[in-house]
Amino acid sequence: MYILAMESSCDETSASVVYADEAGRLFIKSNIIASQVETHRLYGGVVPEIASRAHIEAVSSITYEALDAAGISLSDVGLVAVTDHPGLIGALLVGVNFAKALAFANNIPLVAVDHIKGHIAASYLQNEAQPDFLAPKPPYVALVVSGGHTSVYHVESYTEHIVAAETRDDAIGESFDKIGRLIGIPYPAGAGFDKLSAEGFRRACGDVENAYELFAKSPMRNKNEWKLPSPALAGERPDFSFSGLKTAACNLLHKYEQNGEELPRDTFAAAYTYEAVEAVAKQISIALDMFDGEDLVVAGGVAANSHLRRRLARLCEKKKRKLHIPPLSLCGDNGAMIAAQGYYEFLAGHLAGSDLNASASD
Ligand code: KG4
Ligand code: ZN
Repeated sequence: MYILAMESSCDETSASVVYADEAGRLFIKSNIIASQVETHRLYGGVVPEIASRAHIEAVSSITYEALDAAGISLSDVGLVAVTDHPGLIGALLVGVNFAKALAFANNIPLVAVDHIKGHIAASYLQNEAQPDFLAPKPPYVALVVSGGHTSVYHVESYTEHIVAAETRDDAIGESFDKIGRLIGIPYPAGAGFDKLSAEGFRRACGDVENAYELFAKSPMRNKNEWKLPSPALAGERPDFSFSGLKTAACNLLHKYEQNGEELPRDTFAAAYTYEAVEAVAKQISIALDMFDGEDLVVAGGVAANSHLRRRLARLCEKKKRKLHIPPLSLCGDNGAMIAAQGYYEFLAGHLAGSDLNASASD
C-alpha cells in the first residue's frame, strides 16, 4: 500500500510517499521538504502567520512533487495521513484541510497523526538498500527532543504512548535556539551550536571522539564559571527543567559583557551542551532502568545533535540496550515520519472523518 502524508505543523511543508509491503516494512519512496527557515530567520524565530501563508503556497505543489518523485499517481494511493496536532494552529489547518479535500474527493481513507508519535515513527522507515534494517518493536522507551518537546515515553503499542518524563518548562531545542541567538548564531541555532560546541570540546580536551567524556574532567570545565546547573530533576519521575540552565547561561553572558571581556564562544557552547546532554543521558538511564531490557528510540530535531548521539550510543552500549536513532535527514520535521505513524493508526482502525480538525496542544 502506498501512503501519502503531509506535515505542516511548524515551519516545514512536507509531503511524502511511503510504501508498506505485505510484511509491514516501510520504504520511503519520496520525502519532499520545503523549509521556511530562511523566511523566519529575519525575525529570529517562527512567525505563525507567515508560516501559515507559506504552507498554503507550497502544500499543493509539494504533494504532487512527492507523487511524481515516487513515480505514482493519486489513484495508486491507499491511505492519506496528515499531522493534526500539536503545532501552530494556522499551520496545521493548512495540511489538515488539504489532506481532507484530497482524501474525500478521491475516496481514499484518511488518518490523523500526532506529530510527536510521527517523530518516533521515523525509526520504522528504511530505504530499499538496507537489508539488515531492524525496526524497533513496542514495547520500547522513546526520547523525543525537539524545538517544542523534551519528553520520554513508554511506547506500549504502535499507537499507545505513555508519558514517563517530560520538561516542566522549556524544551531542549528551544533552549539551544534562544541561547544560540544570544551569541550570534542565526535561527534555528541548534546545528550551529552543535558545531561550535565541538570546537569548544576539542580546545578543552584535544581528542574529538572522546571530547565529551574528557570535558567532564578537563581543567577548563572545573573552573567554576563553566559549571552550569543541570536540567535533570530529582524526583519520582526523571523530569527536566531547562529554565535554570538558560538563566545561568544568560547571567554568564551578562557578566562577560559587564566586565568588557570577550566571551570564548566555543567554550561557552561546550559548557552548555555538556550540561544539556548529560542531563538527558542521566534521565534516560533512569528511564531505561524502569523498563527492563527494552530498546531506546531517539527522535526529533535535537536527535541530530552529534554530542547527544555519541553520548546515548555510549550509554546504550553500557546498558546493553539497542539504540535506534533516525538518520539526520529524518530527525527534523518531514512527511515520511507522518506516513509511518499513519500506517499504524490505519492498522489500529483509527480513521478520520470529514469533521477532522487541527489542535495546537498535545
Ligand atoms: O523536531 P523539529 O524539527 O521541530 C519541532 O517539532 O520542534 O526540531 C527543531 C529543533 C530546533 O530547536 C533546532 O535548533 C534543533 O531541533 N536542532 C538541533 C540540531 N539540529 C536541529 N539541536 C541541536 N543540535 C543539532 N544538531
Ligand atoms: Zn517536530
